[in-house]
Amino acid sequence: MKITVVGSGFVGQTTAMRLLQKGLGEICLIDIIDGKPQGLALDLKEASPIEGYPPLITGTNDYTDTAGSDIVVITAGFPRQPGMSRMDLLGKNAAIMTDVVSSVVPGSPAAILIVVANPLDEMTFLAAERSGFPRERVLGMAGVLDSARLRFFIAEELGVSPSDVEAMTLGSHGDSMVALPRHATVKGRPLPELVDEPTLDRLFQRTRDGGAEVVALLKSGSAYFAPSASVVSMVGALVNDSKATLPVCAWTTGQYGISDVYVGVPARLGRAGVEEIVELDLNEDELAKLRAAAEGIRAKCADLATL
Ligand code: 2OP
Repeated sequence: MKITVVGSGFVGQTTAMRLLQKGLGEICLIDIIDGKPQGLALDLKEASPIEGYPPLITGTNDYTDTAGSDIVVITAGFPRQPGMSRMDLLGKNAAIMTDVVSSVVPGSPAAILIVVANPLDEMTFLAAERSGFPRERVLGMAGVLDSARLRFFIAEELGVSPSDVEAMTLGSHGDSMVALPRHATVKGRPLPELVDEPTLDRLFQRTRDGGAEVVALLKSGSAYFAPSASVVSMVGALVNDSKATLPVCAWTTGQYGISDVYVGVPARLGRAGVEEIVELDLNEDELAKLRAAAEGIRAKCADLATL
């Protein structure tokens, strides 16, 4: 399996490292900065005797080296700075996304694209438009990250292991993120039985602001350890054809009463990409929030056409 990672910033480089450590394939790391992907690839290969992974990574500035990729992870783009919303990146990152997609697609016409750049939902739509790929082969990473943050915050609040917590967020990677308390469990027990309403609200709000909290602390750049772990879990499901259901940004075709827009939904991932959008049992309030998130994304995608 050949996996290209576009962009060798912190998200790109930690993604490359995790992919190597998990032995998920042969990695091509590409960036426009001369020497940076080559240096990172060399450094990662030099760790291989210690870590015990095959040194299967190439660093390059030349898109011809990405040809024949099965999966392309697109991390290229500007990160947020303190005080910026993800949406503030729309114009700048749209230009980068268009450039990346038109460079990568000719050599890898059968690839699955995983979009990581912000604003995530709109960039995923743009990558699908520009690539012309079937929409099941273009998806975005956000829900796995947001859900992981929520799971960690719940675990921290209750003093339990994060792996004992199940929780999922849907909707947008932004203010209209939809948390699903009824579907969250701690060791199998529904979360609303364990914490009161104000605590739930606090945990969900912290999750919605999770990216910004890290940005404010770092003061320059945004999160990358949890984002790269999230990408790699999606790549793992695709490569291993695991059919795992993960919350991802996927193209809707009527599920939840939503059509023709990219939005965060649970999806079964396999070798074909998004193989099925899974319809959870949502109540009216949850459905209304998910549909509102979808309409917000649809409006922003329409704005993209005017840039
Ligand atoms: C995050 O949530 C930057 O959107 C990214 O950390």
